[in-house]
Amino acid sequence: MKLLRSLALAARPVQPEPHFRAQQFSRIYCLTAAGLFALQAIVAMLGALDLVIPDLPSPIPFEYGRAIHLGLAEMWPLIATMGMVYFFVTAELKREIYSPRLARWQFWLALAFTLSIYGTLALRIGNGREFLDGLPVLYLGLCSTLAVAVYNLLRTLLASGKQVTPAAVTMTVGMVFLLLLLLPNTIHYSNPIADEATKFWVVHLWEEMAFELTSAGFIAAFFITSGIAVRSQVEKWLYLEASFAVAAGLYSTGHHYYWIGFPAIWLAIGSLVSLLQVIPVGMLVHMTYKGLKAAKLTSKREKLTLWLVLSSLFYHVTGASLLGLLITVPWVNLYMHGTYVTSGHAHLALFGSLGFVVLAGCYYILSRGSEPSSRGYKAAVVAVVLLNVGLVIMGSALIVAGTLQSYLWRFLGNSFMQVSAVINPYLILRVLGGSLFALGDLLLFGVLFGAWRQTKAHPVGKP
Ligand code: HEM
Ligand code: HEM
Repeated sequence: MKLLRSLALAARPVQPEPHFRAQQFSRIYCLTAAGLFALQAIVAMLGALDLVIPDLPSPIPFEYGRAIHLGLAEMWPLIATMGMVYFFVTAELKREIYSPRLARWQFWLALAFTLSIYGTLALRIGNGREFLDGLPVLYLGLCSTLAVAVYNLLRTLLASGKQVTPAAVTMTVGMVFLLLLLLPNTIHYSNPIADEATKFWVVHLWEEMAFELTSAGFIAAFFITSGIAVRSQVEKWLYLEASFAVAAGLYSTGHHYYWIGFPAIWLAIGSLVSLLQVIPVGMLVHMTYKGLKAAKLTSKREKLTLWLVLSSLFYHVTGASLLGLLITVPWVNLYMHGTYVTSGHAHLALFGSLGFVVLAGCYYILSRGSEPSSRGYKAAVVAVVLLNVGLVIMGSALIVAGTLQSYLWRFLGNSFMQVSAVINPYLILRVLGGSLFALGDLLLFGVLFGAWRQTKAHPVGKP
């Protein structure tokens, strides 16, 4: 608590900016998301320990703990994204959201349904759907919150007329896709292929299309305000990024389809279109590199946001695009499917590219109107370093464990138990990496909480 207080007091208020109520609410979305992220590290550490110390006493069986962990992995970025989209759409359009009241209700509903999903899973009430375990009615509830967001955002865009910007449109379209892709997951399918396909619309298309659009909109808005890139240049990239994300995202889902029972043509479509996903990421890296050479950031707040965005870009290229491409190759996937390599890719891609960018947005929003002190800045840099080092150790250990599994178990046909003994040291290494990651997670939460406390006392732009 003392540390949190010192991080909070250390931030200094700066120049006032215009005040919009939607931007004020977006803070509570971001703070809640950061809290759920901190909770996730604790749940995850227990799960990782359970894999290396069998029969570890736990009130929740491993499969339900895993389901809660996966639920957290989807839900805190979702809640943060809702807040980020309200914040940056308002900032881009320079006007209040259509209904701030609806935005506030949406938050409470989203929180209630999210906590109900975790609560029921902790009570062992679920339906066994990986990534979307839990009562379908609760997911319908989440859809209702997304529907509120979509309505609120579309009404705002309509009211803005010619002032609408590409970043605002891209983020809104991302929210529309989040809703449309989750909706089919609220009903029961007796056909297992239909059930798996709709699951991948969330596991794959949420991440590689819908969140890609909301994150690209945020990065564009951040680059423009911080002077890393000029609006015309960013907007050109944004159009291309958005078109690629939608086209490549939709068809590259095919790399999952063949393995769940779709015709073989999907294997070719999925693999070839997956190649295209690398292009917009490469362009973003190029633009960032050019911008960083030209612009020198002086604000520590912007520098920290940039560190988080750069971390995300790194994993976007490595853990998501390159590793994703490797495991997409049909002859590789045949052996590596469902091994720890997938888990390595899932952590590097989901937290690496999406988690970091969402945390960048949350930090930027929560610290608005203040600058970190050198102590607060150092603490935040340590947190980012711990998260990165922890993630790289975790990801590498999982990739080695998964490669051994693929070779010894799938290729040579050794028994599952023999292979488990061989990979155990790498799972212990994952626990060590996870511990560093969890430390970074808790420290970053402290930084975000400190920023929130400090700026709570000086709401930006309020007369
Ligand atoms: C302290 C850090 C973490 C640890 C120790 C950890 C540990 C685990 C464990 C034990 C599992 C289940 C078994 C396995 O697949 O290995 C798992 C699965 C998973 N975790 Fe984490 N996790 C951490 C952080 C995160 C974060 C921050 C995210 C994303 C926001 C995440 C996303 C996932 C996903 C998507 C899976 C499923 C992987 C698959 O499909 O095989 N994890 N994690
Ligand atoms: C932000 C980007 C990405 C995220 C967040 C992400 C996340 C995930 C997650 C969570 C899984 C585990 C699914 C499961 O266990 O059923 C997965 C699997 C997979 N991903 Fe990605 N991914 C991303 C990008 C990519 C890209 C760009 C490619 C290909 C170029 C790709 C190819 C694959 C493949 C082939 C699998 C299935 C692995 C298996 O068969 O076990 N991913 N991804």
